Amino acid sequence: MLWIYYLLVLLSSLASCFPTTKGKEGLAELLSENQVLSDNDIIRNIVNELKSLSSGNLSVCDQCTTRLAIGKSLSILKPDLVSPVFTQWCIDTAYWSNSTCISTFSRNTVDSSYTGTNFGHMLSLMDPFGYDGQLYCHFKESGQCPKPLTPNVTLSDKWPPKQPKHNVAPEPSWNDTFNVLHISDFHVELDYTVGSEVNCTNSMCCTPHSKNKFARKTESITEGSLNSFYNSSYIDDTFVKGSYIDVFKNTSVWTPATTFGSYNCDAPEILINSSMNSIVEYMEKNSLNYDFAIFTGDLLDHDEIKYTSYDLTVESEELVFRDMKAKLKNMPVYPVLGNHDMFPYGELAQENHGFSNLFTWNDELMADLWQQYGWIDFKASKYARKHYSGYSVETKRGLKIISLNSNTWYWKNHYAYWNASQPDTFGQFEFLINELVESEEKDQRVWIVAHIPFATDSLPLPANLFVEIVERFSPYTIAGIFFGHTHLDQFEVLYSGSGKDSKTIENVLNHAWISQAITPWIQNNPSWRYYTVDKKTFSIMDAYNFYTKLNETYTNEGSEPIWEFEYSSREGYNIDWPKTSPLNGTYWHLVAEKVRNSPKYRQIYRNYAMRFSPFVPNCFNSTDCENDYCVLTSFTVDEYQDCIEK
Ligand SMILES: *[C@@H]1O[C@H](CO)[C@@H](O)[C@H](O)[C@H]1NC(C)=O
Ligand SMILES: *[C@@H]1O[C@H](CO)[C@@H](O)[C@H](O)[C@H]1NC(C)=O
Ligand SMILES: *[C@@H]1O[C@H](CO)[C@@H](O)[C@H](O)[C@H]1NC(C)=O
Ligand SMILES: *[C@@H]1O[C@H](CO)[C@@H](O)[C@H](O)[C@H]1NC(C)=O
Ligand SMILES: *[C@@H]1O[C@H](CO)[C@@H](O)[C@H](O)[C@H]1NC(C)=O
Ligand SMILES: *[C@@H]1O[C@H](CO)[C@@H](O)[C@H](O)[C@H]1NC(C)=O
Ligand SMILES: *[C@@H]1O[C@H](CO)[C@@H](O)[C@H](O)[C@H]1NC(C)=O
Ligand SMILES: *[C@@H]1O[C@H](CO)[C@@H](O)[C@H](O)[C@H]1NC(C)=O
Ligand SMILES: *[C@@H]1O[C@H](CO)[C@@H](O)[C@H](O)[C@H]1NC(C)=O
Ligand SMILES: *[C@@H]1O[C@H](CO)[C@@H](O)[C@H](O)[C@H]1NC(C)=O
Ligand SMILES: *[C@@H]1O[C@H](CO)[C@@H](O)[C@H](O)[C@H]1NC(C)=O
Ligand SMILES: *[C@@H]1O[C@H](CO)[C@@H](O)[C@H](O)[C@H]1NC(C)=O
Repeated sequence: MLWIYYLLVLLSSLASCFPTTKGKEGLAELLSENQVLSDNDIIRNIVNELKSLSSGNLSVCDQCTTRLAIGKSLSILKPDLVSPVFTQWCIDTAYWSNSTCISTFSRNTVDSSYTGTNFGHMLSLMDPFGYDGQLYCHFKESGQCPKPLTPNVTLSDKWPPKQPKHNVAPEPSWNDTFNVLHISDFHVELDYTVGSEVNCTNSMCCTPHSKNKFARKTESITEGSLNSFYNSSYIDDTFVKGSYIDVFKNTSVWTPATTFGSYNCDAPEILINSSMNSIVEYMEKNSLNYDFAIFTGDLLDHDEIKYTSYDLTVESEELVFRDMKAKLKNMPVYPVLGNHDMFPYGELAQENHGFSNLFTWNDELMADLWQQYGWIDFKASKYARKHYSGYSVETKRGLKIISLNSNTWYWKNHYAYWNASQPDTFGQFEFLINELVESEEKDQRVWIVAHIPFATDSLPLPANLFVEIVERFSPYTIAGIFFGHTHLDQFEVLYSGSGKDSKTIENVLNHAWISQAITPWIQNNPSWRYYTVDKKTFSIMDAYNFYTKLNETYTNEGSEPIWEFEYSSREGYNIDWPKTSPLNGTYWHLVAEKVRNSPKYRQIYRNYAMRFSPFVPNCFNSTDCENDYCVLTSFTVDEYQDCIEK
């Protein structure tokens, strides 16, 4: 039988790697008896084998990589058993909580299989004792292995040499601008329920399954102060206040959820509608026009994995885009998908490795929807269909927008852990480079739009490669980089060189805009922004930020949220900056320097980051704002770590 042949090959190749002979012989014994053993026996025996790793002299890191090696042989010989084996090992050893064990190794997926399937796919291709295993055990198993050194690989053979003219940014015309809307991180909570628990001790709050595990004492009843419990909605853009819901009947709820949302919860649809209405109203009142909108991802809620499903994913994606289209009408929206916009959560397989059929439903769905809404054309839709929903479009003014799917570099994505020292297993950087080369040749400027900033939640190597690309095509071609994901109103300066001594004004290469979110989760006021953009260079001249004070909707007897202007990026930090210059990396470097040098500016930054929510920390008397300078001046995972370690 073929699997025995594989087994022998595998075992001989693994034998030298097993640090204990017990490990090697144990596995041989188990699997060679496989013919007579039932699946349950195999599961029991391999689980015991995995457990025995902790009783030897192996370091936790070696235990982790050896588990992967055993899992790898299993993934090839008996792929169906990967999920039950690892789930049981995880629960029996209390490696993680039961629910984490189950959601990691056993959750249902789109083809009625398991997340264990995604884990199993990864095992079957990864090199457990090389960089792959080290990386996995560091990131996915909470530091069981130290962070391995990031390989020094390059993509520089993929582009022509940089010419002198490419080192100069074109001068803007400054007084001739157009407007672009930037919206992000809606996170619609379809289960949002007025009157459910806001102060929950399990999972996400404000849903029917939210609970506080402690019995409420009568004196903590909040009755009287909160009064906005209405079954309201927008009908044809008009706010219709619904009937009052008597939430205080339920005496086990500590803090009942009000109509428009809570700082502890994702956005009810009505809050999303209110946000979009505020955008449209502001536009109409001020006779503004947005050429287009960029949406930097995350449509779904943060509910516990067990409450997510394929159906919910499709439903949320369709609903949010439908509402966007209904409100913004003919304004094109250029969306990207976020890490939540996938099922199973955060997973995405390479196009060229046979697993991508588990995920292409999403690309098909998005390509159809975005084209149907008139946001992207047939050519872009065709690209999105084939390339993880990423595409490029040219706007009517000649700007190119390149949209990327950042799950390809997301540390939670299992598929990012095989051949992880290779530069571009997903082929997405190749797409990006080809598009940039094409634009450079035409002297065309480009915006890059994605969900996850590389210094947050990326794997280290893709972050470094992205920087290599940005460095090559800055400042001539890349006019803007836009992310979401953090829910905070932030920016990130990119410097050439490495180490904190390189963070000087001369070394500024570029920067990224990170958008605030509509979802209040967690502890922020809902917010959006628009940019004024130079017509000639597509450089950003200013950003105008708007927000609503969510806590005012707790006690306003069910009235609509009031949306207000918050601040403009050019005025917000008292920087002496020429009116004719764009808010480029150098500008943001000057802001970052102020943040570094003064608690007053750390406070200003934090107020903006969280939109003056009641949870903004006090930067004068706490250490909460200590890392902000590093956040604002690190563009990669390695840089951020280096910065906070000082
Ligand atoms: C484990 O380490 C101890 C002390 O270093 C040593 O005495 C023992 O022989 C080792 N056991 C194995 C199985 O290698
Ligand atoms: C986890 O599950 C196991 C087996 O089902 C059970 O014995 C154990 O009590 C559970 N642990 C917790 C903390 O619920
Ligand atoms: C990559 O290069 C840097 C600088 O030369 C060096 O410090 C680092 O050790 C190298 N990393 C690897 C994995 O070789
Ligand atoms: C921009 O300024 C230039 C020079 O001051 C002027 O000629 C031009 O008309 C201005 N354009 C607009 C749109 O205000
Ligand atoms: C929230 O619940 C905790 C108990 O889990 C309680 O100590 C706290 O006072 C509650 N907060 C409010 C605002 O009710
Ligand atoms: C009261 O709230 C709890 C959650 O705190 C919920 O489990 C329960 O179903 C609610 N009861 C009613 C009658 O709605
Ligand atoms: C809220 O209103 C909708 C539509 O009017 C209705 O179907 C629903 O039952 C109402 N829900 C509650 C809790 O009153
Ligand atoms: C939100 O707006 C959409 C589009 O107008 C509408 O279909 C939907 O019913 C609204 N939902 C709520 C809760 O206001
Ligand atoms: C991993 O990369 C190596 C080197 O490029 C290549 O030979 C190998 O085929 C790759 N593995 C897979 C599964 O593609
Ligand atoms: C930003 O603009 C200023 C003024 O136009 C210019 O001196 C500087 O070089 C620019 N910085 C970058 C990173 O392009
Ligand atoms: C809402 O929070 C802000 C910021 O903490 C505070 O200034 C304001 O008074 C609060 N409003 C209400 C109605 O509680
Ligand atoms: C910091 O000051 C605020 C009031 O401005 C106060 O509420 C808070 O307790 C203080 N925190 C510390 C750690 O002193």
